[in-house]
Amino acid sequence: MNGKQKLELTWIGKENRPRLEPRILLEDPDKSYHARHRVKMGSREDAKARSLNTHFVAASEASPETVIGDIFDNRLIFGDNLLALKALEAEFAGKVKCVFIDPPYNTGSAFTHYDDGVEHSIWLSLMRDRLEIIRRLLSDDGSLWITIDDNEAHYLKVLCDEVFGRSCFIASNIWQKRYSRENREAIGDAHDYVLLYAKQRERFKVIRNRVPITEEQAKIYKNTNNHHRGRWRGIPMTAQGYRPNQMYEIVAPGGAIHRPPEGRCWSMIEPEFRKLLEAGRIYFGKDNNSQPNVIRFLDEVEGFVPWTWWPHDEVGHTDEAKKEMHALFGKANAFITPKPERLLRRVLHIATNPGDLILDSFAGSGTTGAVAHKMGRRWIMVELGEHCHTHIIPRLKKVIDGEDPGGITKAVNWAGGGGFRYYRLAPSLLEKDKWDNWVINKTYNAAMLAEALCKLEGFTYAPSDSVYWQHGTSTEHDFIYITTASLTHEQLQQLSDEVGPERSLLVLCTAFRGRGEYSNLTVKKIPKQVLSRCEWGHDDYSLQVENLPQAPAVEPAETKASPQARQLSLFREVSREGAKPRRKDKT
Ligand SMILES: C[S@@+](CC[C@H](N)C(=O)[O-])C[C@H]1O[C@@H](n2cnc3c(N)ncnc32)[C@H](O)[C@@H]1O
Repeated sequence: MNGKQKLELTWIGKENRPRLEPRILLEDPDKSYHARHRVKMGSREDAKARSLNTHFVAASEASPETVIGDIFDNRLIFGDNLLALKALEAEFAGKVKCVFIDPPYNTGSAFTHYDDGVEHSIWLSLMRDRLEIIRRLLSDDGSLWITIDDNEAHYLKVLCDEVFGRSCFIASNIWQKRYSRENREAIGDAHDYVLLYAKQRERFKVIRNRVPITEEQAKIYKNTNNHHRGRWRGIPMTAQGYRPNQMYEIVAPGGAIHRPPEGRCWSMIEPEFRKLLEAGRIYFGKDNNSQPNVIRFLDEVEGFVPWTWWPHDEVGHTDEAKKEMHALFGKANAFITPKPERLLRRVLHIATNPGDLILDSFAGSGTTGAVAHKMGRRWIMVELGEHCHTHIIPRLKKVIDGEDPGGITKAVNWAGGGGFRYYRLAPSLLEKDKWDNWVINKTYNAAMLAEALCKLEGFTYAPSDSVYWQHGTSTEHDFIYITTASLTHEQLQQLSDEVGPERSLLVLCTAFRGRGEYSNLTVKKIPKQVLSRCEWGHDDYSLQVENLPQAPAVEPAETKASPQARQLSLFREVSREGAKPRRKDKT
C-alpha cells in the first residue's frame, strides 16, 4: 500500500462547512453592569494581603506577585455561539488561556431551558465547526476543557483528536458527579468526563498549576514545637538502596547513634544533612533521640500534580450545583443542568492565573463567568437562550455586588467588584432588496458599516478623530476608508494627495468615477467587493437542514418531539416552559 493511511471519523455531511460572516458585536449599555465603586485597590500590598488570607487557595490564585484590581472588561454575548466565536476571532485569536465548555450532551432529553438531542452526525458537525474556531482562539499555552458523558464522549474524543491533533490530548478526567447510587439503569451512571486538550502539549505541562492541598490533607501538618514558621511534618530521611556517601553515622542530640536501616541509605549526603541540621530543619522526635526526620513546613507544600480522578468531595456534584442554583434563583426558577462552582474552580485553577482570559461559549446559568470573576480572571461568555437575561445577568450582578455568598465565594474571599459588558450580534451586513439584490443592511449606520468592513478586510477598526479617511489600520502605513458616498475624481485625487507616497489607503465606496491611476489608493465598490467572502443573511447555524433524517411515521406529539423538532432546537434555545427531562438528568 502506498502513502500514509489516516484514521478518520467520518459522517454524513462532514464535508459541509459553513462560510461564516464575521459579524460585529453591538454593546447594549443598559444591560452591561459595573460595580458602583472599586472594591480592590489593585496594589501589590492588597494582593499580598488577600493571599495571606487564603492559605488553602493555591499561590497562583492569589499570588503576591500578581497585581489584580477589579476587572471591568468582561463580555457577555447573547446569540448563537458559532457566529459569536467567529465575531471574536479577529480580536482574540491566540489570546484565550482557557476555554471551558459544557455543551448539550445529546442525551435525547428536553430540558426546560434548551433541548438536547439530535442525530449524531449533526451533533458532530455542530461541535466540529465550533471546536475549529475555539482552537484558533487559544493561546499557545492555552487549553480546552469539555464536560461530556457516555452519549457522545468517545466520538467527541476522536473529533477533538482530528481538530487539535492526537498529541494535544492531555487527559480524560473523571468527574464523580453523584455521591448517591443510581439504580434506574443496568449500571448506575456516576461520572462525567472532563476532556482536556492543550494547544501545545509541552507548553501546557510547564504552565499548568498544581492542585492545592485541602485542609483535610493538611491535617498531618502540626506545630508540636511551636515553630515560628507554623505547621510542619517530619519526612523520614531514608531512601531505598546503598549509596556509599549516604551511609554515614548520625548522632542525635540525646546521644543515640543512628545508621540507615537494613537495605536503605540516608536520602542525602552528609554536607547537605549538616546544613539542614544547622538550620533547625532536622527533628529527632520528642525525646531528641529518635531517627532523624526532615522538617517540611506547610507553606512549602506545592500541591499535587493534577490527576484524572476528580471525586465529588473535592470538586462538588450535581446536587451541590442544584443547591447553588436554588440559593441564587429559588427552586421554581432554577436552571436545570448547572455545574458546581467547585468544578470550575478546579479547572480554572489548573489552567490559568489571575488576569488570564477564559471563554465559555455554552454559558448556561453563567457558572464559568461567576467562578472566573471570583478568582480574578477575565471572562467571555456566550449564551443564546433567554436565560442569558433571566439567569446569567442577575447571577453576575450578585457576584459583582458581593451579594452571592454561595459557591466558592468564601473559599476565595470574594467581596465583589468589577463588571461586564453585554453584547449582541449585529444583523448580517448584507440583505436582499426587493429585486433580490444584495444591498447594505438598512439598520447599519456609518460607524457599524465601517467596523464591519474593517473586520471583513482584516483591518483593525480604529477611527481617527482628526483624519476623516482613517477608519482602520492593518499596518503602520496601511489604512482603510469606508463611505457610502459616490466618489468623484477630484475627491479621489484629494485623498491620494493627503495619503502621500509613504502610505496606502483601501477605499471602499458605493460608486466612483476615477480618472487615471492613484498609486497609493486601491478603490473598490461595496457591496460587490465583499459579496463572495462568506454566507450572508444566515442567522442560525444551530443545524444543517440538508442533513436531517426522515421523520418517523407516527409520533405522539405531546409526549415526544420528532427528530426534526429536536434537531431544530439543538444548540438553539427553545422556550418550552415546563418541559421536564424525559430521561434521567444529563448531569
Ligand atoms: C449544559 S448547559 C451549560 C450549563 C453551564 N455549564 C452551567 O453551569 O450553567 C448548555 C448551554 O448551552 C447553550 N447553547 C446550546 N446551543 C448554543 C448555541 N448554539 N449558542 C450558544 N449557546 C448555546 C444552551 O442554551 C445551554 O444553556
